[in-house]
Amino acid sequence: MYYRKISCAVVAAAITMSGFAQPKKAALQSKMDQFVSNLIGKMTLDEKIGQLTQYTSDMALTGPSIRAGYKDDIQKGNVGSIFNAYTPAYTRQLQEMAVKNTRLHIPLIFGYDVIHGHKTIFPIPLGESSSWDLAAMEKSAHIAAAEASADGLHWTFAPMVDIARDPRWGRVAEGAGEDVWLGSQIAKARVKGFQGTSFDGTTVMACTKHYAGYGFVQGGRDYNVVDVSNRTLWETILPPFKATVDAGVGSFMTSFNEIAGVPSTANKWLVDDVLKKQWNYKGFVVTDYTAINEMVNHGNVANEKEAGEAAINAGIDMDMQGAVFVKYLKQSVNEGKVKVQTINDAVRRVLEAKYKLGLFADPYKYCNEERAKTEIMSAANLNDARDIARKSFVLLKNYQQVLPLKKSGSIALIGPLGDDKRDMIGNWSGAGDWHKAVGLLEGMKAVAGPGVEINYAKGANISDNKSIVDQMNSQGGELVTDDPDALLKQAMDVARKADVIVMAVGESQGMTGEATSRSDISIPESQQRLMREIYTLGKPVVLVLMNGRPLTLTWEDAHFPAILETWFAGTEAGNAIADVLFGNYNPAGKLTISFPRSVGQIPVYYDMKKTGRPADPNNKYSSKYLDIANDPLYPFGYGLSYTTFTYTQPVLDKKTIKATDKLNVSVTVTNNGNYDGEEVVQLYIRDVVGSVTRPMKQLRNFQKVFLHKGESKEIKFTLTNDDLKFYDANMKYTSEPGDFKVFIGTNSRDTQEADFKLAL
Ligand code: NOJ
Repeated sequence: MYYRKISCAVVAAAITMSGFAQPKKAALQSKMDQFVSNLIGKMTLDEKIGQLTQYTSDMALTGPSIRAGYKDDIQKGNVGSIFNAYTPAYTRQLQEMAVKNTRLHIPLIFGYDVIHGHKTIFPIPLGESSSWDLAAMEKSAHIAAAEASADGLHWTFAPMVDIARDPRWGRVAEGAGEDVWLGSQIAKARVKGFQGTSFDGTTVMACTKHYAGYGFVQGGRDYNVVDVSNRTLWETILPPFKATVDAGVGSFMTSFNEIAGVPSTANKWLVDDVLKKQWNYKGFVVTDYTAINEMVNHGNVANEKEAGEAAINAGIDMDMQGAVFVKYLKQSVNEGKVKVQTINDAVRRVLEAKYKLGLFADPYKYCNEERAKTEIMSAANLNDARDIARKSFVLLKNYQQVLPLKKSGSIALIGPLGDDKRDMIGNWSGAGDWHKAVGLLEGMKAVAGPGVEINYAKGANISDNKSIVDQMNSQGGELVTDDPDALLKQAMDVARKADVIVMAVGESQGMTGEATSRSDISIPESQQRLMREIYTLGKPVVLVLMNGRPLTLTWEDAHFPAILETWFAGTEAGNAIADVLFGNYNPAGKLTISFPRSVGQIPVYYDMKKTGRPADPNNKYSSKYLDIANDPLYPFGYGLSYTTFTYTQPVLDKKTIKATDKLNVSVTVTNNGNYDGEEVVQLYIRDVVGSVTRPMKQLRNFQKVFLHKGESKEIKFTLTNDDLKFYDANMKYTSEPGDFKVFIGTNSRDTQEADFKLAL
């Protein structure tokens, strides 16, 4: 086998240098350089282009096309990577085709969308981000990597770090919400979780996506045009991408959209100048699914050949599924339109990734039947999934402490998501098996015990809109549509007999994720009808929401006493939700994305600017709506607990600081309610006057603290000059002397403030 032919020294280096941040890095780097240079020296142009080509296998499909004969391509050396293939047996079979049959025996790299768990499914990323628990997010990525790597995978197409402020865009589900600073911390934590400290066979290479601006598609319509200012790009969009470069991410994926008229996949400034040169990124860049071919539709090139040239010359290293590089690059090189040096640089980056993963030392390193059997969906992993799910829930309302529920009496569980498994694992659960998920009814029965009578009725279809239901079901949605009137009648009968009603409502998983933009982000009308009828009973109602995006909930908020946001919580969803409903766990999640009052407010996010005419109810000519408040229904950082917390005024140890100083900020938080609980203490700043206008608040730090009931704690933060920097009028990243405010509070709206000055 090929790896036996490599010299012992190289094998040893390949085994040891499995991470991106190792001691003796320089020596290992030079061994890798030697090995890769030597290999590139032996490669023909066709073999090089093969390494820059990736195809989906037919095991799963995550895009519009599949290449017939991709297995022949592998054996001919025309493929460097396969995605959508997993299990030790299948990846071994494909790997053998590459290693045994090609002239240079170069192993394939197997990628897959391991987005929020491999087979043990965790909450969707937007849900997980609501935990504000970086260690938990790192752990869930680590578990996902351990399961994926045991199942033949080397590489996950995650994290998605697109800042997203438009809930019409279905892909808000896959990211960490609207905030740049928090998004950057989460991006780093997830990269660390996936990649670990070394590629020892139990971790996978991460892929930062989608570079860049995809979260800003116009109208929230997927794949649409993006048109943002240079400032928005640098202040809001790029920081989480840069954070993952600093964290040592192994790969990047471009986005489908254009920026300022140039599709990302042909954007030399974005990929080559900023990512590779300015940020000194050493990994490789893959396109998104057929993104090179799609440039013909974008209209920046006349044909696929030109698209391929634009892509490789912009710094793209791997063509996902488009087969453009294999079809045209050789001709482009011969015509002098693409330099051999450009191809060599791309090949080097791809081969280096394979080297770092240890694939030259052992191409089957990640085909671990034994580990796959014992570790995938182990009891420990399921336990962690349950815990992380509970951390992701956000209590939006709890009037008169309707929650937690008593473990006695009778409960009616009503709603199409109440006894449902498919939706629990969300839209992008890849290899996840929804049959193994725990639905809410099952979870409630298990957690409540025999003292509670729980009766279930579906009450409504998720949607009665045939076109939507058909679209869901054509994508594996499993939606069953029943007679709405019969469902309603049955639900009312069940509800009438209960002391408390729990309603499980929201979206189907297929209404969220890629290609699921919605112009109306309310709970579908079929379920609204059910809610209106249930409301007439005048009983206490707890709304349990399951959804992948912010919803407009103005009516629900005004009519129901308790609302718990549970997203799509993963394999252990039902158990985790029941833990919270019955008070075994006190919720502490906080929103990472604002919930608008209506679609008309979009975009609405917390770090907005003031405008020249701030809203003033007494001034007609001020910035406001005639029919609605400016602020969202539930702001960024918002979330309740079963207990209550009070905050003192923030105390600063200095009134004026210099750029070299540290400013200590403290606040005392007291749990003055009736439960032990956790609170996310949030710190925001404002630069009062800048050479360019500044947002009214910007998150700069937080601490998640546990307080016993009655307990007080002093929470200390330190601000430095770095926290005050921004891109000034000349786009220089710096701080400016002058007045600042610091705000501390339980969410971005309810804060107390103090002032300080930054002196020259
Ligand atoms: C398209 C999606 O945009 C991207 O996020 C995903 O990783 C690829 N398809 C591969 O499935």
